[in-house]
Amino acid sequence: MSILQQLEELKTQALCELAAVEDNKKLDLWRVQYMGKKSRLNEVLRGLSALSIEEKKTVGATANQLKLELESALKEKELSLGEKVISAKGEETIDITLPGRKPPVGRLHPISQVIDEMCRIFVSMGFQAVEGPEVEWDYYNFDMLNIPKEHPARDNMQTLWVDYENEKGERPMLLRTHTSPMQVRVMEKIKPPLRIVVPGKVYRYEAIDATHIPMFTQIEGLAVDKGITLADLKGTLYEFARRYFGSDRKARFRCDFFPFVEPGVEMSIECIVCKGAGCRLCSNSGWLEILGAGMVHPRVLEGVGIDSSVYSGFAFGMGIERIPMLRYGIDDIRLFYGGDLRFLRQF
Ligand code: DAH
Repeated sequence: MSILQQLEELKTQALCELAAVEDNKKLDLWRVQYMGKKSRLNEVLRGLSALSIEEKKTVGATANQLKLELESALKEKELSLGEKVISAKGEETIDITLPGRKPPVGRLHPISQVIDEMCRIFVSMGFQAVEGPEVEWDYYNFDMLNIPKEHPARDNMQTLWVDYENEKGERPMLLRTHTSPMQVRVMEKIKPPLRIVVPGKVYRYEAIDATHIPMFTQIEGLAVDKGITLADLKGTLYEFARRYFGSDRKARFRCDFFPFVEPGVEMSIECIVCKGAGCRLCSNSGWLEILGAGMVHPRVLEGVGIDSSVYSGFAFGMGIERIPMLRYGIDDIRLFYGGDLRFLRQF
């Protein structure tokens, strides 16, 4: 067995035995056996000078690394045994005078915090927050939103299909690509007047990079009543922008296309970084697009049996991750889902 293999085995054995140590006496024995003068590790370290330069490099580095690892494992063990002291009778007792260890307290994920804050704003304007399924039918995700099979709008939503086949040989189940299907589900159950927001996860089959991940979060809004107009849509979203981004932040609407609204718009806010002057973040336009919206398409209303000559409504959908990214200057969306506490603890 090569020296490197021996060291590897030594490491496994030492750490295993250390894990089983339950008192200070055994810990002393462990220390002598694995880190003492006559330990195998020390022998290797002392024998380094006899090795060739090449071997010195690899064996020396590995042995020193092992020494550091054993030292820190030993320290940890000492700490964990620290509360136990040996009484006069030689039995272990707990030293109750030591201060307790603080249990770590968690916190809400930054995305959950944004969702809470947004829902609070919309709830104060009379909206109800509801949630819906992430595994969805093609019927709700596309058909009922005026996106029939073969419609090119489906191509913009790289869909993750569920491996389930019905009797007709179709694959009608998918991971929802947006929160909009909940518009239909809610209108099927609740008759207008209604006002809802729907936060939740959505999925798209996309390559991962600094601005794309296959699972992200959206918040959908829907208001249906008699006499709802584009002015209500603009008023609601201006008020949202004022409360969420601050009263001095300008917002603008421009025409856009979504099959389930007519007319469709996109809303942008003045760039957070350059305040409209133009910078890299806003591609020199001074504006950042934050959501799609519009007046609910009559076909969507009729699809759920709502008379579109009596009722009208507006809807909007916003990607959530982008918002804190803009607010705090976070340049990589993957940070939200990497589980790195150094990142998460900043919120
Ligand atoms: N569902 C759209 C998307 O994910 C966003 C959207 C646009 C939602 C317009 C809406 C809307 O409710 O009216 O790209």
